[in-house]
Amino acid sequence: MAHPEVENAIKGFLLDQEKMAEVVDRMTKEMKMGLAKDTHPRAVIKCFVSYVQDLPTGKERGKCLALDLGGSNFRVLLVTLNGDGSADIQSKSYVFPSTLMTGTSDELFDFIAASLGNFCIENGLENEALPLGFTFSFPCQQKGINKGTLVAWTKGFNVPGVVGKNVVELLQQAIERRGEVRISIVAILNDTVGTLMSCAFHNRNCRIGLIVGTGTNACYVEKTVNAECFEHYQTSPKQSMIINCEWGAFGDNGVLDFVRTSYDRIVDKVTPNPGRQTFEKCISGMYMGEIVRLIVIEMMAKGVMFHGETSQQIQNRWSFQTAYLSDVESDPIGEYRHTNKVIREMGFLGNNEADKINLRRICEAVSSRSAKLCACGLVTLINKMNINEVVVGIDGSVYRYHPKYHDLLTMYMKQLLKPGVKFELTVSEDGSGKGAALVAATAAQSK
Ligand code: GLC
Repeated sequence: MAHPEVENAIKGFLLDQEKMAEVVDRMTKEMKMGLAKDTHPRAVIKCFVSYVQDLPTGKERGKCLALDLGGSNFRVLLVTLNGDGSADIQSKSYVFPSTLMTGTSDELFDFIAASLGNFCIENGLENEALPLGFTFSFPCQQKGINKGTLVAWTKGFNVPGVVGKNVVELLQQAIERRGEVRISIVAILNDTVGTLMSCAFHNRNCRIGLIVGTGTNACYVEKTVNAECFEHYQTSPKQSMIINCEWGAFGDNGVLDFVRTSYDRIVDKVTPNPGRQTFEKCISGMYMGEIVRLIVIEMMAKGVMFHGETSQQIQNRWSFQTAYLSDVESDPIGEYRHTNKVIREMGFLGNNEADKINLRRICEAVSSRSAKLCACGLVTLINKMNINEVVVGIDGSVYRYHPKYHDLLTMYMKQLLKPGVKFELTVSEDGSGKGAALVAATAAQSK
């Protein structure tokens, strides 16, 4: 049993069924506001039109490049679509210097262009005029498949002079400044859209793309007639439109205050975007570790945990990595191999079993709240689509590496969904990069 003070501290994380149902209700309203033209400008869940209307058929053919920017990694890919439902992928990850997250716009786009140049030269592609799909995982208002204006930075990025600009143009200019390659950017897409496309390539029932990683967000397949912010929503010959919800911003108008805790409010204050991405800050990997750390230091101050020990490490902001939650929760009950490692890395001795039990309890509370809220989001989308069977393609470090996340998400979704609705949660193996290539291939063909 965890200490009563610990139980008291985590109370706010233990959302009951009633609260979860209320989250679904509120989210449903906010989503509708984002979709409808007259309410879109003041909506917090923006439901951006992606301009991707075709799910993959498997018949896509050709060679495309893809770039993936938006989490902790930056990747360049060369995807060869074989036309028979298979694809060959070559890719290279580049270390993304964290200084670029808050540097200048030129530094950021020059780095991307340089990595692309390097990749093309290494692969003998410098003279090929290949189409490129750019996965840019930030909220963008699109005016077309290759026009995306950055609305706000999220996930710790804060590069001045980019918000309000068409990022496709910024990147294309950077590519031309270097003059190494003949690449044209034919599509820009969110990572959720890339994930959905990549999963739908193999699985025809995939209708939702979800990311639970550094940030969180989802996209889904909407009827074109409901995508009112699309200028041709009434006349388009195509039935579907993928909507990039940008659900991370849910709650920025206060409607989630009834589930937020004092720790969430502290975390929010120390981010570069206070008051923004409220839902994301309760769910995603960038913030879970910090929430745990805040609870632990409060427990230390009360003399409840790590009594008599000192650690400089635990006092440092962001020092408790979200990967530690996965470590701690992966130990079988009563065993502490991974927990001991975490405790030592945080600068403690780890001689006291009660500390380990308390730490595990805190981690579980934070992870399960994350999974509960994420389940609320998915259920909102499934209800909105009004379908009885759906596959969700998922990517992101939290979903991939947390030992219990998949099971928790499944369990909470079952609690909330109408009886008879079937769903499958599946990791999107090739990530959003392959999805970007699929979108680029289709966009290049219809040019
Ligand atoms: C943030 C971004 C969003 C992205 C998500 C997952 O919420 O705003 O565009 O999809 O992170 O990477």
